[in-house]
Formats: sequence, structure tokens, C-alpha cells
Amino acid sequence: MTTDPVPGAHVSPQWAAWRRSVDLDEYEARFVHDAAHGEADLVASLHPRSVLDAGCGTGRVAIELDRRGIEAVGVDLDGDLLALAARKAPQLRWECTDLASMDLGRTFDVVVLAGNVLLFCRDDRRSDVVARCAAHLGPGGLLVAGFSLRMAESSIRLDEYDAAATAAGLVMVERWATWERDVYVGGGYVVSLHRRAGHDASDPLA
Ligand SMILES: C[S@@+](CC[C@H](N)C(=O)[O-])C[C@H]1O[C@@H](n2cnc3c(N)ncnc32)[C@H](O)[C@@H]1O
Repeated sequence: MTTDPVPGAHVSPQWAAWRRSVDLDEYEARFVHDAAHGEADLVASLHPRSVLDAGCGTGRVAIELDRRGIEAVGVDLDGDLLALAARKAPQLRWECTDLASMDLGRTFDVVVLAGNVLLFCRDDRRSDVVARCAAHLGPGGLLVAGFSLRMAESSIRLDEYDAAATAAGLVMVERWATWERDVYVGGGYVVSLHRRAGHDASDPLA
């Protein structure tokens, strides 16, 4: 695994503020005590063989997917978070890369952006992040992203996200209010599922 800092990574002010404020021990402890797996449950229900956990942090989602027998790779630009992930799951591939420019040289059945990742990306790079995630999907591959629409310091509009997805060649499949697939009726949190356009109908993910 690679934990070198990413040269020229495009970190956002909100990422820098979050990173200064977060105590990594407390951050990790929270997930031990509150081991909810809504994101992993939803991703697993799509029956992927391989998943890219984009903006994986300390590996919460990738590690749970691996535990369920699904191949998972984690990407983040923060080497400290990845080091914690690798300590918990050294058998997984962890890559220290900026999502806005990542090129892992392969594709996945599902790319997941869990835990408000897009809100921690620079505003002017979000469409690049969506495009690079889409570029890592195989035919019929699915991008699933969950984020708050009410985070004052780093808000993202739903039409902005949808435009980035469309520009990246993705087609909307579903939209929910939670990772448990509650119906979306315009609330402050949204989980969106997009498919790479031009998929093969015989593909098991289709
Ligand atoms: C709130 S954390 C969520 C972590 C993890 N997805 C989870 O749900 O537990 C947001 C993560 O996005 C990562 N991130 C933000 N911008 C990124 C970028 N441009 N490239 C890669 N990772 C990024 C941060 O380093 C951080 O680990």
C-alpha cells in the first residue's frame, strides 16, 4: 500500500478544517461503538464483485465489504487515514490518490462515495471527482454517493451533482433519502445511484 502524501493534491478548505479538528482515535472509536453498515448493506445488495471505496478514510466501508467476500479497494488522499485502514486490513489495496485525478488502471462494478466525501472535495473539482469515479466503472457499473444537502460550509446542489454525473456519461437509476432506501421526498440527505451508460443488458449488474 502507498501512504506517501499526494503531490499537488487538491484539498479543500473544509477538508483542511475537518482534518485539523478530528481526533483520529476518537474517530475510530466512534465506528467501533457505532458499527452501522448501511452503506455496505446497500452496496452489497447490488451484488458487485468489486468495489472502489472512494474517499475511504480509515476504511470503514471497504473493510466491511471485504468481510462479506467482496473485493474492495480503498482510495483517499490522506496517508494518515490510510495507514489506520491498512493496520486494520493489510490484505486490502489502499491507494493514496486524489480522486479528482485518480487512475488506478482498472475498473470496478461499483464505486461508492460514502460519508459526505463530495462535501470534502474542492467545489471546483467535484465534477472531476465524479468523472474519475465514472471512469473507474466497468460496463453497467454503478456509482452510489451519499451526501448532505445542508452542510453550510460546503454545500452541494443536487442539480450540480446530476449535471456532473450526466457529463461523465452516467444515467440516474434511483435516489433515496437514506442508505436504507427510504423514499426521497426532498430532504436534507440524499443517496444517489447512477449507472454507466451504454451497459450490456446481459451484465449481472444491469
Ligand atoms: C468524512 S470522511 C468519510 C470517510 C469514509 N468514506 C467513511 O464514510 O467513513 C471524507 C473523506 O474524503 C476524503 N477526501 C476528501 N477529498 C478527497 C479527494 N479529493 N481525494 C481523495 N479523498 C478525499 C478525506 O480525506 C476523508 O477521508
